[in-house]
Order: sequence, then structure tokens, then C-alpha cells
Amino acid sequence: MVVSLASMIEIRDLSHIYSGRTKALDSLSFSVERGEVVGLLGPNGAGKSTAVKLITGILRPTSGSVKVAGLEVSENLAEIRERIGFMPQETSLYEDLTAHEILEYHADLYRVPKGEVSERVARMLELAGLTHRKDDRIKTYSGGMKRRLALVRTILHDSELLILDEMSLGVDVQSRNLIWNQVRKLRDDGLTVLFCTNYMDEAEALADRVIVIDNGKLVTEGTPDALKREHVGNYLIEALLEGMDPENDDSWLSGRLGMEVEKLSEPLDDHPRTAWIKSQSGHSDLPHVIGKLTDLGLVVKQVALREPSLGDVFLAITGSKLRD
Ligand SMILES: Nc1ncnc2c1ncn2[C@@H]1O[C@H](COP(=O)(O)OP(=O)(O)OP(=O)(O)O)[C@@H](O)[C@H]1O
Ligand SMILES: [Mg+2]
Repeated sequence: MVVSLASMIEIRDLSHIYSGRTKALDSLSFSVERGEVVGLLGPNGAGKSTAVKLITGILRPTSGSVKVAGLEVSENLAEIRERIGFMPQETSLYEDLTAHEILEYHADLYRVPKGEVSERVARMLELAGLTHRKDDRIKTYSGGMKRRLALVRTILHDSELLILDEMSLGVDVQSRNLIWNQVRKLRDDGLTVLFCTNYMDEAEALADRVIVIDNGKLVTEGTPDALKREHVGNYLIEALLEGMDPENDDSWLSGRLGMEVEKLSEPLDDHPRTAWIKSQSGHSDLPHVIGKLTDLGLVVKQVALREPSLGDVFLAITGSKLRD
């Protein structure tokens, strides 16, 4: 057996322009190593789904290179597709078939050995918690049931790389836990996983490393801990403040405190506003912050110290403006 040392995914200077107009990806480069679980993050329209469609060979790039396990995707489509399990963002299941039929069809398509099909299909139905509904048509399933079925369909055949585009889109907490646990188990089995998500807690729960893109370009990448330290700091002090002049913004507060203010919520009638203040030393900064805020004539209704989340990192680097 030939063991390749190439990265599992390597994309270089990848650009994609839809119908000659929208530049969805703009010279994007990144790689994913074997055994890594990587979260691809970015605001709506950032280019995440486009990137994974190029990696799976569903789309052809306008320019640049995409390699999976060292093979150029466009030149090795059939082989690459067998090596990847792909869950698209839009659940694309044949609604008139049953779960059982769809999994059997998929097993045939991906050449699962005939003698193993029924055992594997039964195992996947069990994993998805759909055994009791296996003979019902998919159009009678709820959104969460369809998402669970879409996940097990991607892991039915033996792939090395899983690409999951918004794995838990629109599902309830129970379904999400089931999907996350499955992904953790697959990671423990040595699979490489690249997933796109808009949910920061999903990235926090699963990713060894995250890659953030915006406007089709790489913004930053690193482990969640490294990004938190780099973009936010050790701690955030969250203070709910009454009496703030609507004219005052985060730089005003920052100047008065002598500390960096990550964000100050927008004024809304006479509701208290929340300030997120960056803190390096944690508890020992609290008396100083509370003292200064009080000296400014503000009423500190609540104050909390917490570690930054990936959501804070995401807002710090992509801003809080609406996108798509
Ligand atoms: N089939 C298409 N034809 C034309 N433009 C498209 C098409 N698909 C996506 N786009 C555009 O390409 C850009 C990137 O879209 P993409 O779906 O890759 O973003 P995304 O990061 O996955 O967003 P989301 O978080 O909403 O899923 C957007 O400007 C989008 O409008
Ligand atoms: Mg998408």
C-alpha cells in the first residue's frame, strides 16, 4: 500500500466566479492535515459552501488548484468522490423514497460490498435513530430527521474525508447532540473532517482548528485557544450599564477606562447598554473597572467576568454588520 504524506486537502490560490459575475472565492489558500477536524467559518455569503463544492468536485474552479490526498480533484473526480463523504448544506434526498431505500441506493452507488449492505444500512438507520421510520417516505420526515439521514448517508461508505456543510442546520438539541457525537466518534476513528458552520458553539465543540474566511478570502486560522488570545485576550468583562449617553461609543468608553473595549451594544431607548471590556488579568481588573465606571456616573447593573468564546473572536474579526 502506498502511504501518501500529502495533506488531506490542499487548496492554492483558488478563485471562483459564478456566472461571470459574483466572485465567491478570491485567491483562497489553506490546507487540512490528515486526522484533523477543521471548522470553516465565515459570515453568510463568505464562500464556505463554494469552497467545499470545489473540494468535492461539484464545481470547477475559475482558477487555482484543489488537491485531495495529493490528487488534483478535477483530474481524478471518480476516485476523489469515493474517498469523500459529503453532506451538502441543502438536504438533497429523494423525497419519494424511504430511508431504507435511499441508503441501499447510496451503498450501491458507492460500491459497498454486496454482502455488507444490509448490515451497514441497518447500522446507519440505528445511528440516525430512524429504524422505526425506515419504511416511511422521506417527505413525511421532519427537518431534523432528514438532517440525521443525510449525515449517515455520508458515512455509509468507507471514506477518509468527511465534508459537512452546516451539519446541524435547523435541528433540535437532541439531533444536534447525536450528530456531534457521531462526528467525535469518527474523529476518534481517524477520519479527517472539514465542516462549515455558522454556529460558533459547533466550532467550539468540535474543531481542532478553525479557518475564517470572508468575501472569499482567508481572514485568519488557528486553534480556538490561539485565536481567542490573539483577537480578544484572556478574559472579557461584561458590564450592563445604565445612564450611558446614546452618543457615547466604544472608543469613548475605551479612552475613559484606559482598557480596550471590544464592543458596546447599540443604544435602544433608555435600556441599559452592555459593554464588553478586554481584560488580561481577570479578577484583579474588576475593582478598577467598576470604580471607573461608577466615577463616570454610570450605574453598573451587572458585571461578569468570562473567558472569550469563538463567537467573540468571530465578531472581533468579521465585525457586527449584517452580510450576505
Ligand atoms: N449558484 C450560484 N450562482 C450565483 N452566485 C452564487 C451561487 N451560489 C453562491 N453564490 C454567491 O457566492 C457567494 C458565496 O456563497 P456561498 O454559498 O459559498 O457562501 P456561504 O459562506 O456558504 O454562506 P452561508 O453561510 O449563507 O451558507 C455569495 O455571494 C453567493 O450569493
Ligand atoms: Mg453555505
